Amino acid sequence: MDSSKKSEEDRNSSAEVETYPEFVVFREGYRAQKVVYHPGETIVETARRAGIFINTNCVQGYCGTCTSVLHKGNVKMRKNKVLTKDDLAGGRILACQSIPITDTCEVKLS
Ligand code: FES
Repeated sequence: MDSSKKSEEDRNSSAEVETYPEFVVFREGYRAQKVVYHPGETIVETARRAGIFINTNCVQGYCGTCTSVLHKGNVKMRKNKVLTKDDLAGGRILACQSIPITDTCEVKLS
């Protein structure tokens, strides 16, 4: 195998490695709380572990009760049956379905 082909494979395999933040920052007004993130947790699970309250109802991606705003970073939602494209473009996320996928993750609580 030639070396240029191998290095391309290396780049592709490293692109598949999942990224997650060391901390999730929860912002509410002027307050910010930094919580250690455990890989695979949703934003709601991380918040609850730290005693931060996020209102929820279905916890299945259907009701929108947990809607929060992503201030920094990006998330992958397991399911979204509520938020529109405009909501998503405005940074809204379903916290009960959102898994952080970037080095940084900051969420504004409403
Ligand atoms: S609690 Fe219903 S969508 Fe999150």
